[in-house]
Amino acid sequence: MAEMVKLFVNGQEVEVESGKNLIDALEVVGIEIPHFCYHPALGADGNCRMCLVGIEDGRPPLVPACKTPVAEGLKVQLDTDKIKKIQRDVMELELINHPTDCPVCDQAGECKLQDYYMSYDHQATRMRVPQVLKGKKLDFGCGVIHDQERCVLCARCVRFTRQITKTGELGIINRSDEARVTLFPGRPLNNRYALNVVDLCPVGAMTSKDFRFKQRAWFLKRNKGICHGCSMGCNIFIDHNREKYKDDLIYRFRPRFNPEVNGYFICDKGRMSYHQENEGRLKSARIDHEDSPLVQALQTARRRIEASDKVLLLVSPNCSLEQMLAIRSLATEKGATISGYSDGCIQTGDADGYLIQDDKSANRAGLELLQIDTTYDFFKESLQRADTLVCFNNDLFFTDPDPVVAEKLKVLQTIAISTHETPFSRQAGIAIPAASYSEYAGSVINKDGVLQYFGRAVEKNVPAPEMISIARDLGATLTEPEALLHAMKRCIPALAAAESDQIPERGLKLTLSEAAHVTA
Ligand code: SF4
Ligand code: SF4
Ligand code: FES
Repeated sequence: MAEMVKLFVNGQEVEVESGKNLIDALEVVGIEIPHFCYHPALGADGNCRMCLVGIEDGRPPLVPACKTPVAEGLKVQLDTDKIKKIQRDVMELELINHPTDCPVCDQAGECKLQDYYMSYDHQATRMRVPQVLKGKKLDFGCGVIHDQERCVLCARCVRFTRQITKTGELGIINRSDEARVTLFPGRPLNNRYALNVVDLCPVGAMTSKDFRFKQRAWFLKRNKGICHGCSMGCNIFIDHNREKYKDDLIYRFRPRFNPEVNGYFICDKGRMSYHQENEGRLKSARIDHEDSPLVQALQTARRRIEASDKVLLLVSPNCSLEQMLAIRSLATEKGATISGYSDGCIQTGDADGYLIQDDKSANRAGLELLQIDTTYDFFKESLQRADTLVCFNNDLFFTDPDPVVAEKLKVLQTIAISTHETPFSRQAGIAIPAASYSEYAGSVINKDGVLQYFGRAVEKNVPAPEMISIARDLGATLTEPEALLHAMKRCIPALAAAESDQIPERGLKLTLSEAAHVTA
């Protein structure tokens, strides 16, 4: 438990965590100090002066809140005429050359300049001189578009490329009203995290080429999710919207702060992976390559499984823990073999020592916790014996299978339960569409053994069935939410010991004995 200190804000006593600056400490108790340049991941730069606050009897009497640690008995003034005038003066300076283009600016609705104008400024411009014009729509590379006229020169983007990616592509050149953010000549942004500057930019000066003009921010619904792009399990916001006469579509992923997992950022590939949630989906069921009603496909699949002697269930390392439990119960009911082998998930050498991992699956640790064999040898051996293969969203065939496996796959009875149209779903005897991870709730364990829960975000006009309900229709018995939670508690002592039935917001770090199962 962090040490607490008492201080006074506008004469009111508040208790806050020690060791933080005034901006962060007061934010926790709902008190906003406006600021542009400070960001907790980048530290205090002190260049914008928007955060100036008064300190009663202080020497000096005015201090930047971003550089002022909280202290016992500190008397902070946020609402004096002097502070209000300083805020208006800073805003006036920021807006002298700022284009009045909020109606066509992509940042409108989530722009600090716009918000602070309404909260702290609210005055008409006194400028009667032409504005200084700068570069518009500059393609900075990596999908980032820069507008120099909108920039408030907070240097967050510059500091990001220096402190976080250490690639240093950005700099501020010139002085006074000619100052601008720019690239070194001929050297565009070139790092795997570049799009984080779009989130960091407090105004509409850095925008995403992918997202620009697709949606107004206020139309988007924001749900909390977990990126399934690799075994890091970065926390994200899933921003989605259903436009009139259209389906519920995802328009962007944005990073969600979790100090235990990804901090403030995500990689660009994970960010752009939202496209895969919208596109390339398996939309309708098929029996023997002919379209079929879903119910009929499920019934036929169940009959074929029941008529088989040796069924092999192949489960994806991207399935949630709950789905794995349900599929494992199907294996128990049917006396089937279960394998967690997947051939396309590991990209050796891709990890970068920061967030990006070699393992491109979200829950391999879950397979290992449930002691589902993930080795190729076991899979190959089980396949040789099997007469039916049921593939639960596994990426089988994403790489060329060895000739023995390829031959066997030609003569097997195959059932693909798949979120997407894949090489395997196209050749399967029965193909059944399934909901993808933005369309169901579940839990995954990342490569560090952090168990995380994510809720359902997207609600499709015609929802594909969840993998658990498909498993139930095929004969699994462990499919009810309470029973699944109970089963999870049995195999995860840390969860059983947790006070609530919920996995905490920032995840649950599994204990050492559990983590022994989950080293991916
Ligand atoms: S582009 Fe945005 S983040 Fe970069 S200095 Fe300008 S306002 Fe700040
Ligand atoms: S590092 Fe992995 S989990 Fe994180 S955003 Fe990138 S792909 Fe997704
Ligand atoms: S946030 Fe403190 S000076 Fe900019």
